[in-house]
Amino acid sequence: MSDDVEEKISQAIANPQNMGEMSDADSVGTVGNPECGDMVRMWLKFSEKDGKKVIDRASFQSFGCQTAIAVASMATEMLKGKTVEEAGAMDSSELSKPLGPLPPMKIHCGEMVEGALREALKEERGCEEPTLPATPNANTLLGDMHQPKQKSGKLKVVKLDE
Ligand code: FES
Repeated sequence: MSDDVEEKISQAIANPQNMGEMSDADSVGTVGNPECGDMVRMWLKFSEKDGKKVIDRASFQSFGCQTAIAVASMATEMLKGKTVEEAGAMDSSELSKPLGPLPPMKIHCGEMVEGALREALKEERGCEEPTLPATPNANTLLGDMHQPKQKSGKLKVVKLDE
């Protein structure tokens, strides 16, 4: 991970924004990643602005790594004032943009935040899986969930010298 990204993550987790359960939330979305065992939950509170429903507040809990906490902290700030449609159009790279490009091993951390947001927006968008394209992008968490699992190649057994 570049020093710059690491520094920004450190700064974000030193003073995370919008962390914690929102008792008066209008919706909540939760996703987990069985591979790393992490989980992100996002709460949204909506209000009306110029006849449109906008995100008034967003908060999160992350039972995961520091990168997910940093992305969720920044994302919940960025979401304020966004319409449901605008928020639904944001992907993980946009949500984690203030940190800079995440290293390949950490891309799924941003995707966890994207997944939690999409889950929280589901009801507002009025359909089961509103943001999934016909052919989900395999580079996103949601896309990955729709890809056939490979039988090999993910795990490598390495014999250790005794
Ligand atoms: Fe899994 Fe970051 S390592 S969310």
